[in-house]
Amino acid sequence: MHLLFVLPLVLEVQSISMSHNSTYDCTCHLVLKIANCTSSNFTHLPAALPPFTEQLDLSLNYLSAIRPRAFHSTRRLRVLLLNDNVIGALADGAFSLLEGLLRLDLSRNRISFLSEGFSQGLSSLRDLSLAENRLSSLDSSCFVHFDALQRLNLSHNAIETIKMRAFGSMSTLRQLQLNSNNLTFLKNGIFSMLRNLEVLNLHHNQIHYLDVGVLSPLTSLALLDLTNNNLSTIQFKTFLSLNTYSTHIMLQGNPWNCDCDLQRVFRKLCNVKRLFLDDYDNLTCMNLDESHRNYTMKEEFCIAEMVTVLVITITVVITVVAAIVMAEKKRKKKNREKHWTEVGEASCASQD
Ligand SMILES: *[C@@H]1O[C@H](CO)[C@@H](O)[C@H](O)[C@H]1NC(C)=O
Ligand SMILES: *[C@@H]1O[C@H](CO)[C@@H](O)[C@H](O)[C@H]1NC(C)=O
Ligand SMILES: *[C@@H]1O[C@H](CO)[C@@H](O)[C@H](O)[C@H]1NC(C)=O
Ligand SMILES: *[C@@H]1O[C@H](CO)[C@@H](O)[C@H](O)[C@H]1NC(C)=O
Ligand SMILES: *[C@@H]1O[C@H](CO)[C@@H](O)[C@H](O)[C@H]1NC(C)=O
Ligand SMILES: *[C@@H]1O[C@H](CO)[C@@H](O)[C@H](O)[C@H]1NC(C)=O
Ligand SMILES: *[C@@H]1O[C@H](CO)[C@@H](O)[C@H](O)[C@H]1NC(C)=O
Ligand SMILES: *[C@@H]1O[C@H](CO)[C@@H](O)[C@H](O)[C@H]1NC(C)=O
Repeated sequence: MHLLFVLPLVLEVQSISMSHNSTYDCTCHLVLKIANCTSSNFTHLPAALPPFTEQLDLSLNYLSAIRPRAFHSTRRLRVLLLNDNVIGALADGAFSLLEGLLRLDLSRNRISFLSEGFSQGLSSLRDLSLAENRLSSLDSSCFVHFDALQRLNLSHNAIETIKMRAFGSMSTLRQLQLNSNNLTFLKNGIFSMLRNLEVLNLHHNQIHYLDVGVLSPLTSLALLDLTNNNLSTIQFKTFLSLNTYSTHIMLQGNPWNCDCDLQRVFRKLCNVKRLFLDDYDNLTCMNLDESHRNYTMKEEFCIAEMVTVLVITITVVITVVAAIVMAEKKRKKKNREKHWTEVGEASCASQD
């Protein structure tokens, strides 16, 4: 019962290239195959780690770069935590030997660019976090070697551009966090291939426009979070094209330009059985003056239109009625004249 077998063996690992002065500690659980080097002031990867290590925790250090094949001595890694370092440079093939790696955490670093070689060799990876880095663009090749990725966290970067087919090879992806970035519009084709995606998180961007077909490849989508963006209007077809069994859509925190047209779009969306506008009651209008700011999409914005329609209808009816009355009057008058002549003729005839 006692975990006596799991004696933590403290390995003193001498850094090769760093200040020869200091020593660095990793706690290695040989049975659990864990090497825990968290918070140890590493500026370079520790050189001597047990080769059978499956979980390597290098979080909260000062690593600034990962060289090619950096993990050649620990090829059996399944979990690699590199979060909270200062990594700015990832060499091509940095992780290329880690064919069994399932989880890679690179969050809270300084990564601003992903090359094609980044994903090289990571064909088993299921879980990747690149959250809280400095990415501004996703190229079409940066994720090409991922064959099994299910969760990708790209939140809290500065992503403005997603190139066509950036997620092209990721038909296994189920959750994509793109929240808290700098996206302004979503182009057709950026999500093609994501047919197993269930969660798409896009909150806290500056999205003001979605191409009509951009969501149509997402046939498994269950949750679409577009809260806190810059949407003032939407098109019915954009969401109608979500060909799913059931999708929850979140839209609050956008500067909605409430008018009759938009209200009609929302009413139609509410009637689509497979779409659920969870926060419909909370959609507030930005186009109205201060005192009406808290109006929601539920208010009646079609009154003006209804009044206009009513006025037009009444006008038309009056005109038509007037026309009929006039025509009737004219006909009667004509008839009377005709009658006179007819009668005249008749009397003439009878007189004959
Ligand atoms: C390590 O560096 C410190 C100063 O940073 C110094 O005082 C100490 O003597 C050095 N130790 C060794 C073993 O070189
Ligand atoms: C490493 O140790 C820290 C505490 O010292 C712990 O919080 C963390 O979960 C450990 N990492 C792994 C992979 O077990
Ligand atoms: C890391 O460095 C800080 C300050 O330089 C020091 O206080 C801390 O003890 C070091 N931690 C280890 C594990 O060496
Ligand atoms: C994504 O990363 C952010 C920032 O580190 C974190 O707060 C969030 O929980 C992560 N989301 C998921 C689904 O892992
Ligand atoms: C990204 O958006 C944040 C606010 O969401 C803003 O502070 C930052 O300046 C933007 N960065 C770029 C490069 O536009
Ligand atoms: C929001 O979108 C409008 C265009 O619809 C643009 O003029 C404005 O600058 C955007 N605001 C932000 C904060 O991105
Ligand atoms: C709508 O807003 C209210 C108050 O701000 C909040 O309590 C509620 O959870 C929101 N509803 C949804 C579906 O987000
Ligand atoms: C919303 O607006 C109405 C009228 O303009 C006002 O009476 C009410 O207090 C407002 N509510 C909030 C929560 O601001």
